[in-house]
This record gives sequence, C-alpha cells and structure tokens, in this order.
Amino acid sequence: MTIREAGTLGHRAAIVGAGHTRFGALEEGPRALLRSAMDGAFSSVDRGADRSALAEAFLATLGFGGWQIGNASAILGEEAGATGVPATRVENACASGGFALRAGVRAIESGASGLVLVAGLEKMTDVASARRRYWLGVSGDTEWERLAGLTFAGVYGLIASRYLHEHSVGPEALAEVAVKNHENGALNPNAHFQKRISREDALGSPRVADPLGLYDCCPVSDGAAAILLAPAESARKYTDTPVYVDGIGAGSDHLAVQERPHLTRFEATRRASEAAFHDAGIDRRSISLLEVHDCFTIAELLALEDLGFAAPGEAAALTLSGATRRSGRLPTNPDGGLKAKGHPIGATGVSQLYEIFLQLRRAAGARQVPGAERALAHNVGGAGATATVSILSAG
Ligand code: COA
Repeated sequence: MTIREAGTLGHRAAIVGAGHTRFGALEEGPRALLRSAMDGAFSSVDRGADRSALAEAFLATLGFGGWQIGNASAILGEEAGATGVPATRVENACASGGFALRAGVRAIESGASGLVLVAGLEKMTDVASARRRYWLGVSGDTEWERLAGLTFAGVYGLIASRYLHEHSVGPEALAEVAVKNHENGALNPNAHFQKRISREDALGSPRVADPLGLYDCCPVSDGAAAILLAPAESARKYTDTPVYVDGIGAGSDHLAVQERPHLTRFEATRRASEAAFHDAGIDRRSISLLEVHDCFTIAELLALEDLGFAAPGEAAALTLSGATRRSGRLPTNPDGGLKAKGHPIGATGVSQLYEIFLQLRRAAGARQVPGAERALAHNVGGAGATATVSILSAG
C-alpha cells in the first residue's frame, strides 16, 4: 500500500507520445522491432520531441530465448538515437511493462526534468518449441510447479476448473471473453489475430489444458511498444492532448500458487488496484474502459473481480450480459487483449498504455470507445505473482 495521501499523484506525469509495432510472428529481429516502436513514439509527438531531451529510459523485457539477458537496456539508447541516456532494464515477467511505467513515473517524481522513455520488447517466435516451453516456464515457480510438469496453460487450467466449480458456472463465459476479444482484435491493425470467432468455435477448439482450449489462450507473439512520458507541467510543450497518469499501484504474492490461500483470486492485483485508486483518489465508477491482463480467458474474469468491478463469481454473468463489449458499460480490452492482439511478454504492459493513449485522445478509429475519459491498465506477471494497475485520464 502506498504511503501517499489519497489522490496526490494526480497529474504529475503524462504520456505525450506512443508507438507500436504489429504483433505476431514477425520477420524483424528484436533491435528492428524496438527501433520501430520508438520511432513511432517520437514521431507521434505533435510538436516534436528531440531525442537529446531524453532524461531516462526503461526497457521491459524478459529476454525470451536468452536474447541479450544482461544489459539489454543499453540497446534502448542506441536504437533511440540517444546513446548515453541512463537506461534500466525492468524484468517482472509478463508485468514488466507495467512495472517499467511505474519506474518511469517515479523517475519523473524524483525530478527527471526531460522526457522518459518506457519501451517493451519480446521476440518469441524464433525459438524452437521445447526451448519456448522452458522460456515461458521460467517465470513460474521452478521448484514445484515446473517439476510437476505444469505450463502456464496448465496452471490457469487448474484455476479455471476451480472457478467454474466454486461458482457453478459453465465454460460459456470463458468463450464469451474469447469471442469479444477476437471481435475487438479484428478492428486492430496491430493485432496478431484479426479474425472474428463464434462461441461454437471457442467452445469446440482443441483442448490445451482442460477446460481451456486453443481460443482460451493468448498466442506466442513478437512485438514492441513504446511511450514517452513528460512531467505534467511541461506536457503541453509537446502536445495539446496529453494523457495523464493519475494513479499507479503495484503488488506481489507468493510465486507458487500452492502457497496461496485462494486459487481464484490474485492478491497482487487486489493490492495494486487498491493502491492505484488510492493514489488517483477516484471511484471505480469514473473508469470508462479497461485494459486487463487476459493471458487466458479465465484471467479476464479474475481481473474484473480482483480490480473491484464484480463480486467473486459475478464476472461470468457480467461478461455474458455484454457489459464488457465495446458498446457495454464497462468496455474491456478494446484492442483485442492479449488473447487476440497477442502477448509479446515485455511489450504487453506498454502496449496497453499505447491503446489507452489512443482511446483517451479519441484516435482509436473503428474500435474507439465513445466518451472515453478515464482508463485503467492492469498487467500481471506469470500466474499472479506480480501485478500493476495504472489509472490514466484525458488531458
Ligand atoms: N489462439 C488462437 N489461435 C492460435 C493460438 C491462440 N492462442 N495459438 C496458435 N494459434 C493458431 C495458429 O495461428 C495456427 O493456425 P493455422 O494453422 O491456421 O496457421 C494454429 O493455431 C497452430 O499454431 P501453433 O503455433 O502450431 O500452435 P501451438 O499448438 O504450438 O501453440 C498454444 C498453441 C496455445 C499452446 C500457444 O499459443 C501457447 O503456449 N500459448 C500460451 C503462451 C503463454 O503461456 N504465455 C504466457 C502467459 S502467462
């Protein structure tokens, strides 16, 4: 829990530019992906941003496949055309991007006066499948879960079984998450999968870890995303439409799910959520859209509950009611989520911020959520061991 007074973060940092590559199985290598996302971020700044104005840089990456695990951050400065900038790698598995945002905001609060670059990157598809399982597995508990042969799909499959049993719900709610996120992804030119699926497709897809099938899983994707942060007081030097970071929270939990008292709630998300709302000093009712960490469809239901938008067991009915569709009262994952947009580990949390940057500036095109004023991003590491929540608002 933060030691700050409620509502005191408000308007200290702002996103003034954002860039994104396509997500998917891509030809480009990691450096080219990173360069492309960063070029996009710099060129999106309405009044221009000089790369020499970079005060700090943070790179979110797992270093999948062993690609440049040590000192990867130096590549940020090189590829951004700003060699020499203080650069730090942030690694918290799939939550690396959210934690990199938090580090960037803290750098601004500590007095960084120029721009702060927050980038995320992963190159996953050039690794053979046995090595890929190893590299996905290293972010889970390697002493017990991995030795027992559990993959992340396996862990989330156990969580899904327990959730369906505890709350007496059927797999249709899981299928609805997949259908909705594929529908949104079909409108996102950067998404790994840009095709709609039916509920029957989802329910009938090949089993991966029962009750989860292929369409309940995020894919293995390459990609990068980047944002540029400025101190709130200088944001309008760069653009008339900054997107402010109003609140940010983070939390952690036991690494192994067996050590936790509950399988169907993520305490790390709950802590991060409480801290972020406390920081922002706002009520959940003022959130217009959510970007949540749906690495598996069950994770979106848990997120809605752990973030405080549904009571335990009620996210299933909420989802089936259509409330989380773009036209619903709680639009969730308008960019397609990890399920359809893809999940290049380190890039994911930054990609959520890219989508929020577009949505709050009313620049999200066909997938624009009408009246978007305030948004929440939720990023989870592994099976809930680490999490961040950030709350952003339109300038
Ligand atoms: N959703 C929908 N379609 C998918 C898909 C997914 N998640 N993953 C692969 N596909 C499609 C491919 O596009 C391909 O389609 P095609 O035959 O029309 O070209 C087909 O399924 C087979 O693709 P392939 O790459 O051979 O699949 P796979 O069996 O090797 O992998 C999963 C499928 C689900 C096991 C893999 O995507 C996976 O491990 N996902 C989870 C990743 C993960 O754990 N991330 C960390 C989360 S905490």
